[in-house]
Amino acid sequence: MRAAVVSNPDAAPVCADFPDAQQQPGKEPLRGTMAERLVTPFEVELPAGADPLAVAAGMNPGMSGWMALVARRREVGELGTVLVLGATGMSGGLAVRAALSMGAQRVIAVGRDPEAMEGLRGPRVVTVPLAHGGPDAWRAALGAAVAEAPPALVLDFVWGPVAEVALAALRGVSADDDVPIDYVQFGALAGTAASLPAALLRSRRIRISGSGTGSVSKARMIAEVPEVIARFGDGTFDAPYTAYPHSRVGAAWAHQGRTRAVVVPD
Ligand SMILES: NC(=O)c1ccc[n+]([C@@H]2O[C@H](COP(=O)([O-])OP(=O)(O)OC[C@H]3O[C@@H](n4cnc5c(N)ncnc54)[C@H](OP(=O)(O)O)[C@@H]3O)[C@@H](O)[C@H]2O)c1
Repeated sequence: MRAAVVSNPDAAPVCADFPDAQQQPGKEPLRGTMAERLVTPFEVELPAGADPLAVAAGMNPGMSGWMALVARRREVGELGTVLVLGATGMSGGLAVRAALSMGAQRVIAVGRDPEAMEGLRGPRVVTVPLAHGGPDAWRAALGAAVAEAPPALVLDFVWGPVAEVALAALRGVSADDDVPIDYVQFGALAGTAASLPAALLRSRRIRISGSGTGSVSKARMIAEVPEVIARFGDGTFDAPYTAYPHSRVGAAWAHQGRTRAVVVPD
Protein backbone atom coordinates (compact mmCIF):
# COMPACT_ATOMS: atom_id res chain seq x y z
CA MET A 1 0.00 0.00 0.00
CA ARG A 2 1.00 3.63 -0.38
CA ALA A 3 1.81 5.63 2.74
CA ALA A 4 3.33 9.02 3.42
CA VAL A 5 6.11 8.87 5.99
CA VAL A 6 8.02 11.52 7.89
CA SER A 7 11.54 10.19 8.38
CA ASN A 8 13.20 13.40 9.51
CA PRO A 9 11.58 16.17 11.58
CA ASP A 10 13.05 18.85 9.30
CA ALA A 11 11.91 17.27 6.04
CA ALA A 12 8.52 17.03 4.34
CA PRO A 13 6.97 13.55 4.26
CA VAL A 14 7.39 11.39 1.19
CA CYS A 15 4.99 8.87 -0.28
CA ALA A 16 6.24 5.32 -0.91
CA ASP A 17 5.11 1.68 -1.03
CA PHE A 18 4.95 -0.23 2.26
CA PRO A 19 3.61 -3.61 3.37
CA ASP A 20 0.11 -3.44 4.86
CA ALA A 21 0.09 -2.84 8.63
CA GLN A 22 -0.82 -5.96 10.64
CA GLN A 23 -2.27 -6.08 14.14
CA GLN A 24 0.29 -7.91 16.29
CA PRO A 25 -1.26 -9.81 19.24
CA GLY A 26 -0.56 -7.99 22.50
CA LYS A 27 0.96 -4.97 20.78
CA GLU A 28 -0.42 -1.47 20.35
CA PRO A 29 -1.63 -0.89 16.79
CA LEU A 30 0.54 1.29 14.58
CA ARG A 31 -0.58 4.88 14.54
CA GLY A 32 -0.71 7.18 11.54
CA THR A 33 -3.27 8.75 9.28
CA MET A 34 -1.37 9.20 6.02
CA ALA A 35 -1.51 5.59 4.82
CA GLU A 36 -4.04 4.01 2.50
CA ARG A 37 -4.89 1.49 5.24
CA LEU A 38 -4.17 1.37 8.95
CA VAL A 39 -4.99 -0.82 11.92
CA THR A 40 -7.30 0.89 14.39
CA PRO A 41 -8.25 -0.13 17.93
CA PHE A 42 -11.93 0.76 17.33
CA GLU A 43 -14.43 1.31 14.53
CA VAL A 44 -16.97 4.09 14.09
CA GLU A 45 -19.51 4.20 11.32
CA LEU A 46 -19.78 7.48 9.45
CA PRO A 47 -23.34 8.78 9.66
CA ALA A 48 -25.22 9.54 6.45
CA GLY A 49 -24.54 13.08 5.36
CA ALA A 50 -21.11 13.31 6.96
CA ASP A 51 -18.41 14.25 4.46
CA PRO A 52 -15.48 11.92 5.33
CA LEU A 53 -12.91 14.54 4.37
CA ALA A 54 -14.57 17.16 6.59
CA VAL A 55 -14.51 14.58 9.40
CA ALA A 56 -10.80 13.99 8.76
CA ALA A 57 -10.17 17.74 8.79
CA GLY A 58 -12.29 18.49 11.82
CA MET A 59 -11.95 15.59 14.26
CA ASN A 60 -8.88 16.85 16.10
CA PRO A 61 -10.04 20.47 16.44
CA GLY A 62 -13.63 19.34 17.08
CA MET A 63 -12.67 16.91 19.85
CA SER A 64 -10.66 19.48 21.81
CA GLY A 65 -13.36 21.81 23.10
CA TRP A 66 -15.93 19.02 23.03
CA MET A 67 -14.11 17.01 25.73
CA ALA A 68 -14.01 19.94 28.14
CA LEU A 69 -17.63 20.90 27.47
CA VAL A 70 -18.87 17.34 28.01
CA ALA A 71 -16.86 17.01 31.23
CA ARG A 72 -18.20 20.29 32.58
CA ARG A 73 -21.81 19.51 31.66
CA ARG A 74 -21.52 16.05 33.22
CA GLU A 75 -20.18 17.49 36.46
CA VAL A 76 -22.22 20.65 36.85
CA GLY A 77 -25.30 19.90 34.75
CA GLU A 78 -25.35 23.11 32.73
CA LEU A 79 -22.82 25.20 30.88
CA GLY A 80 -23.97 28.74 31.61
CA THR A 81 -21.66 31.21 29.86
CA VAL A 82 -18.64 29.81 28.01
CA LEU A 83 -15.69 32.05 27.15
CA VAL A 84 -13.67 30.90 24.10
CA LEU A 85 -10.25 32.50 23.55
CA GLY A 86 -9.06 31.98 19.96
CA ALA A 87 -12.61 31.47 18.71
CA THR A 88 -11.63 32.46 15.17
CA GLY A 89 -9.51 29.31 14.72
CA MET A 90 -10.80 25.92 13.64
CA SER A 91 -10.74 24.49 17.18
CA GLY A 92 -12.19 27.59 18.82
CA GLY A 93 -14.89 27.95 16.17
CA LEU A 94 -15.98 24.32 16.62
CA ALA A 95 -15.92 24.81 20.40
CA VAL A 96 -18.33 27.74 19.98
CA ARG A 97 -20.67 25.55 17.94
CA ALA A 98 -20.35 22.65 20.39
CA ALA A 99 -21.13 24.90 23.36
CA LEU A 100 -24.25 26.23 21.66
CA SER A 101 -25.38 22.71 20.70
CA MET A 102 -24.97 21.60 24.33
CA GLY A 103 -27.19 24.42 25.57
CA ALA A 104 -24.74 27.12 26.71
CA GLN A 105 -26.75 30.20 27.62
CA ARG A 106 -24.13 32.43 26.11
CA VAL A 107 -20.76 32.17 24.41
CA ILE A 108 -18.23 34.98 24.56
CA ALA A 109 -16.06 34.49 21.47
CA VAL A 110 -12.69 36.23 21.50
CA GLY A 111 -10.45 36.49 18.43
CA ARG A 112 -8.54 38.71 16.04
CA ASP A 113 -9.65 38.05 12.47
CA PRO A 114 -12.60 40.39 11.70
CA GLU A 115 -14.10 38.18 8.98
CA ALA A 116 -14.04 35.07 11.17
CA MET A 117 -15.48 37.10 14.07
CA GLU A 118 -18.35 38.19 11.85
CA GLY A 119 -19.12 34.54 11.07
CA LEU A 120 -19.34 33.67 14.78
CA ARG A 121 -21.88 36.31 15.73
CA GLY A 122 -25.34 34.97 16.63
CA PRO A 123 -28.24 35.24 19.09
CA ARG A 124 -26.31 33.61 21.95
CA VAL A 125 -22.82 34.66 20.87
CA VAL A 126 -21.13 37.87 21.98
CA THR A 127 -17.92 38.62 20.09
CA VAL A 128 -14.97 40.44 21.61
CA PRO A 129 -12.36 41.48 19.03
CA LEU A 130 -8.70 41.50 19.98
CA ALA A 131 -8.24 44.82 18.26
CA HIS A 132 -4.84 46.30 17.52
CA GLY A 133 -3.49 48.10 20.54
CA GLY A 134 -2.50 45.12 22.64
CA PRO A 135 -3.52 43.97 26.10
CA ASP A 136 -4.57 47.42 27.39
CA ALA A 137 -7.10 47.77 24.59
CA TRP A 138 -8.36 44.20 25.06
CA ARG A 139 -8.81 44.56 28.80
CA ALA A 140 -11.73 46.97 28.63
CA ALA A 141 -13.63 45.03 25.96
CA LEU A 142 -13.20 41.63 27.59
CA GLY A 143 -13.81 43.03 31.09
CA ALA A 144 -17.16 44.47 29.99
CA ALA A 145 -18.26 41.22 28.31
CA VAL A 146 -17.42 38.98 31.27
CA ALA A 147 -18.92 41.44 33.77
CA GLU A 148 -22.23 41.23 31.91
CA ALA A 149 -22.22 37.41 31.76
CA PRO A 150 -19.58 35.85 34.04
CA PRO A 151 -18.25 32.68 32.41
CA ALA A 152 -18.33 29.35 34.23
CA LEU A 153 -16.05 27.68 31.68
CA VAL A 154 -13.12 29.16 29.75
CA LEU A 155 -11.69 27.35 26.70
CA ASP A 156 -8.32 28.89 25.90
CA PHE A 157 -6.68 28.02 22.57
CA VAL A 158 -4.09 30.82 22.60
CA TRP A 159 -2.69 31.45 26.12
CA GLY A 160 0.07 34.14 26.47
CA PRO A 161 -1.05 37.77 26.88
CA VAL A 162 -4.63 36.89 25.90
CA ALA A 163 -4.84 34.52 28.87
CA GLU A 164 -3.38 37.18 31.17
CA VAL A 165 -6.11 39.62 30.16
CA ALA A 166 -8.79 36.94 30.61
CA LEU A 167 -7.49 35.90 34.04
CA ALA A 168 -7.49 39.54 35.15
CA ALA A 169 -11.04 39.97 33.84
CA LEU A 170 -12.21 36.91 35.79
CA ARG A 171 -10.98 38.48 39.00
CA GLY A 172 -13.37 41.35 38.51
CA VAL A 173 -16.59 39.35 38.11
CA SER A 174 -19.02 38.14 40.70
CA ALA A 175 -18.70 34.39 41.10
CA ASP A 176 -20.75 31.53 42.49
CA ASP A 177 -19.00 30.18 45.62
CA ASP A 178 -20.50 26.73 45.12
CA VAL A 179 -19.50 26.10 41.52
CA PRO A 180 -15.90 26.54 40.40
CA ILE A 181 -14.92 28.36 37.23
CA ASP A 182 -13.11 25.89 34.96
CA TYR A 183 -10.30 27.40 32.90
CA VAL A 184 -9.05 24.86 30.36
CA GLN A 185 -5.92 25.46 28.27
CA PHE A 186 -5.50 23.83 24.82
CA GLY A 187 -2.96 25.75 22.77
CA ALA A 188 -0.36 28.49 23.07
CA LEU A 189 -0.29 30.34 19.76
CA ALA A 190 -0.27 33.76 21.43
CA GLY A 191 2.50 32.81 23.89
CA THR A 192 3.82 29.78 25.75
CA ALA A 193 3.72 31.46 29.17
CA ALA A 194 1.17 33.54 31.06
CA SER A 195 1.43 34.99 34.54
CA LEU A 196 -1.22 33.88 36.98
CA PRO A 197 -2.29 36.47 39.59
CA ALA A 198 -2.14 34.99 43.10
CA ALA A 199 -5.11 37.11 44.12
CA LEU A 200 -7.27 35.43 41.51
CA LEU A 201 -6.64 32.02 43.06
CA ARG A 202 -7.53 33.35 46.51
CA SER A 203 -10.64 35.23 45.51
CA ARG A 204 -12.38 32.70 43.24
CA ARG A 205 -13.17 29.04 43.18
CA ILE A 206 -11.25 28.46 39.97
CA ARG A 207 -9.63 25.35 38.49
CA ILE A 208 -6.96 25.79 35.85
CA SER A 209 -6.09 22.73 33.80
CA GLY A 210 -4.95 21.68 30.36
CA SER A 211 -6.59 19.35 27.88
CA GLY A 212 -4.86 17.11 25.35
CA THR A 213 -3.35 13.68 24.87
CA GLY A 214 -2.01 12.75 28.28
CA SER A 215 -4.35 14.88 30.36
CA VAL A 216 -7.53 13.33 28.95
CA SER A 217 -7.68 9.54 29.02
CA LYS A 218 -7.66 7.64 25.73
CA ALA A 219 -10.78 5.73 26.82
CA ARG A 220 -12.71 8.95 27.44
CA MET A 221 -11.66 10.36 24.08
CA ILE A 222 -12.63 7.18 22.21
CA ALA A 223 -15.99 7.16 23.99
CA GLU A 224 -16.77 10.62 22.59
CA VAL A 225 -15.60 9.95 19.00
CA PRO A 226 -19.02 8.69 17.75
CA GLU A 227 -20.75 11.74 19.26
CA VAL A 228 -18.35 14.15 17.60
CA ILE A 229 -18.58 12.36 14.23
CA ALA A 230 -22.38 12.52 14.51
CA ARG A 231 -22.11 16.31 14.73
CA PHE A 232 -20.58 16.32 11.23
CA GLY A 233 -23.59 14.33 10.04
CA ASP A 234 -26.24 16.60 11.57
CA GLY A 235 -24.60 19.83 10.42
CA THR A 236 -23.53 21.10 13.86
CA PHE A 237 -19.89 20.80 12.80
CA ASP A 238 -18.24 21.54 9.51
CA ALA A 239 -14.54 21.85 8.68
CA PRO A 240 -13.29 23.47 5.50
CA TYR A 241 -10.47 21.48 3.92
CA THR A 242 -8.15 21.27 0.93
CA ALA A 243 -7.59 17.72 -0.34
CA TYR A 244 -4.17 16.64 -1.61
CA PRO A 245 -3.44 13.27 -3.22
CA HIS A 246 -0.78 11.11 -1.55
CA SER A 247 1.64 11.88 -4.36
CA ARG A 248 1.48 15.59 -3.39
CA VAL A 249 1.91 15.08 0.37
CA GLY A 250 4.81 17.54 0.36
CA ALA A 251 2.43 20.28 -0.84
CA ALA A 252 -0.04 19.28 1.89
CA TRP A 253 2.75 19.67 4.45
CA ALA A 254 3.38 23.24 3.28
CA HIS A 255 -0.35 24.08 3.21
CA GLN A 256 -1.32 27.37 4.88
CA GLY A 257 -4.56 29.22 5.35
CA ARG A 258 -7.97 28.78 6.90
CA THR A 259 -8.65 25.29 5.50
CA ARG A 260 -7.14 22.04 6.82
CA ALA A 261 -5.01 19.89 4.51
CA VAL A 262 -6.40 16.37 4.10
CA VAL A 263 -4.29 13.72 2.36
CA VAL A 264 -6.25 11.21 0.26
CA PRO A 265 -5.17 8.18 -1.80
CA ASP A 266 -4.25 9.04 -5.41
N1 LIG B 1 -5.02 20.23 23.20
C1 LIG B 1 -5.82 19.84 22.24
O1 LIG B 1 -6.57 18.90 22.37
C2 LIG B 1 -5.82 20.63 20.96
C3 LIG B 1 -6.58 20.20 19.87
C4 LIG B 1 -6.62 21.02 18.73
C5 LIG B 1 -5.84 22.18 18.68
N2 LIG B 1 -5.06 22.53 19.74
C6 LIG B 1 -4.22 23.73 19.74
O2 LIG B 1 -5.07 24.88 19.81
C7 LIG B 1 -4.47 25.96 19.07
C8 LIG B 1 -5.46 26.48 18.05
O3 LIG B 1 -5.73 25.45 17.13
P1 LIG B 1 -6.66 25.71 15.88
O4 LIG B 1 -6.98 24.37 15.32
O5 LIG B 1 -7.84 26.57 16.25
O6 LIG B 1 -5.69 26.51 14.92
P2 LIG B 1 -6.05 27.55 13.77
O7 LIG B 1 -7.30 27.13 13.07
O8 LIG B 1 -4.80 27.72 12.99
O9 LIG B 1 -6.40 28.91 14.54
C9 LIG B 1 -5.42 29.61 15.22
C10 LIG B 1 -6.09 30.51 16.25
O10 LIG B 1 -5.11 31.12 17.07
C11 LIG B 1 -5.27 32.52 17.00
N3 LIG B 1 -3.94 33.15 17.15
C12 LIG B 1 -2.80 32.81 16.52
N4 LIG B 1 -1.78 33.59 16.92
C13 LIG B 1 -2.33 34.45 17.85
C14 LIG B 1 -1.78 35.52 18.62
N5 LIG B 1 -0.49 35.86 18.57
N6 LIG B 1 -2.63 36.21 19.44
C15 LIG B 1 -3.93 35.87 19.51
N7 LIG B 1 -4.51 34.87 18.80
C16 LIG B 1 -3.69 34.18 17.98
C17 LIG B 1 -5.90 32.79 15.66
O11 LIG B 1 -6.50 34.06 15.68
P3 LIG B 1 -6.97 34.86 14.35
O12 LIG B 1 -7.37 33.81 13.35
O13 LIG B 1 -8.13 35.66 14.82
O14 LIG B 1 -5.81 35.65 13.90
C18 LIG B 1 -6.89 31.63 15.62
O15 LIG B 1 -7.99 31.91 16.43
C19 LIG B 1 -3.18 25.38 18.47
O16 LIG B 1 -2.12 25.69 19.33
C20 LIG B 1 -3.41 23.89 18.45
O17 LIG B 1 -2.21 23.16 18.51
C21 LIG B 1 -5.04 21.77 20.87
